[in-house]
Amino acid sequence: IFTQVELAPADPILGLTDAFKADKRTGKVNLGVGIYKNEAGLTPILASVKQAEAKLLASEESKSYLGIEGVQAYNDAVQSLLFGAGHQVVKDKRALTAQAPGGTGSLRVAAEFLARNTKSKTIWVSNPTWANHKNIFQSASLEIKEYRYYKAETHDKDFDAMVEDLSSAQAGDLVLLHGCCHNPTGIDLTQAQWKTIAQLCLKQELVPLFDFAYQGFGDGVDEDANGLRVVADTVPELIIANSFSKNFGLYNERIGAVTLVGDSQESVVKAFSQVKSTIRGNYSNPPAHGALIVSTILGDAELKALWERELKEMRERIAKMRTLFVETLKSEGVTQDFSFISRQNGMFSFSGLTKEQVAQLKDEHGVYIVGSGRISVAGMTKENMPVICKAIASVL
Ligand code: LMR
Repeated sequence: IFTQVELAPADPILGLTDAFKADKRTGKVNLGVGIYKNEAGLTPILASVKQAEAKLLASEESKSYLGIEGVQAYNDAVQSLLFGAGHQVVKDKRALTAQAPGGTGSLRVAAEFLARNTKSKTIWVSNPTWANHKNIFQSASLEIKEYRYYKAETHDKDFDAMVEDLSSAQAGDLVLLHGCCHNPTGIDLTQAQWKTIAQLCLKQELVPLFDFAYQGFGDGVDEDANGLRVVADTVPELIIANSFSKNFGLYNERIGAVTLVGDSQESVVKAFSQVKSTIRGNYSNPPAHGALIVSTILGDAELKALWERELKEMRERIAKMRTLFVETLKSEGVTQDFSFISRQNGMFSFSGLTKEQVAQLKDEHGVYIVGSGRISVAGMTKENMPVICKAIASVL
């Protein structure tokens, strides 16, 4: 049977990591996948995580199964990060959260639950969006439509086009929204624009599905949740898939969550039972370690403060790299205006480089970025900056 199976194309993001590892050249740079690197070019375990793990090692007594929805203290902590302390949605018990394996696992559980149990069969995603979104939603049998989001000429968002496209969506359609640090463009909605989108969803009975993977990488933990909170204040039902891969540096622990917000406690309890059934049919129940780390940190005032400082440090280092990137391109003789890069948020910069230029960067210079022109600024350091900028200057 396997002889009939066709070879799958390499994954646009993780496939690059494979190619990078196989590349024998010294001085190669991987700015493909979104992984934070410190000034030394390493992805260390956060001190807050190390301390939480030490506590767990001393206190954990069993490796027995978790419930289908995972660690309850973790799920409660997720809700307080998403909605903030004392949000009405939480007070009214209209939100229920299930721990899930990373952002991808959370999106997949949400999508499969929606496709099987609700009238929502179509999902609108931004053009462009994260390369894995279509793969996830198609695997869950959702139909994909695109709304315009980005204007290449201005290197900015095209909000009017977004509103125009979503105005033709049907009641019950899902709208995938990036909570902050839009991947791949790094361009986010303003507070006023979030209000407009929230009202549009309300009026047209669209159901927002948030992909929230970069909380704390834009302006701050609470600041980055503003869009989500505006929407949660406005629409009766929404779904949030969040991830702690980046903001806790827990990439390989695969730790995220899916949160349902219903129009009443009764309806959300019913809907959540189907989320649990979806999980049971996929991986039964989640692994514990990542959730215990996050709940230990968020449940301890000192560890939480340490984590917030570490997250701030990551955010500020990336912001510095953006400025340095723009300056170094200039000093390498690039006359094209790249100042838009310092206005973008989060780990990524949407460079505007063409597919051919991207290929040349890899083949001739050993600099790896995603085919769409997305560059992981989080992988830049003072040391690799000249190599990167020289290579870009030569392909432009
Ligand atoms: C990325 O966009 O690079 C990350 O979210 C990692 C991934 O799984 O693609």
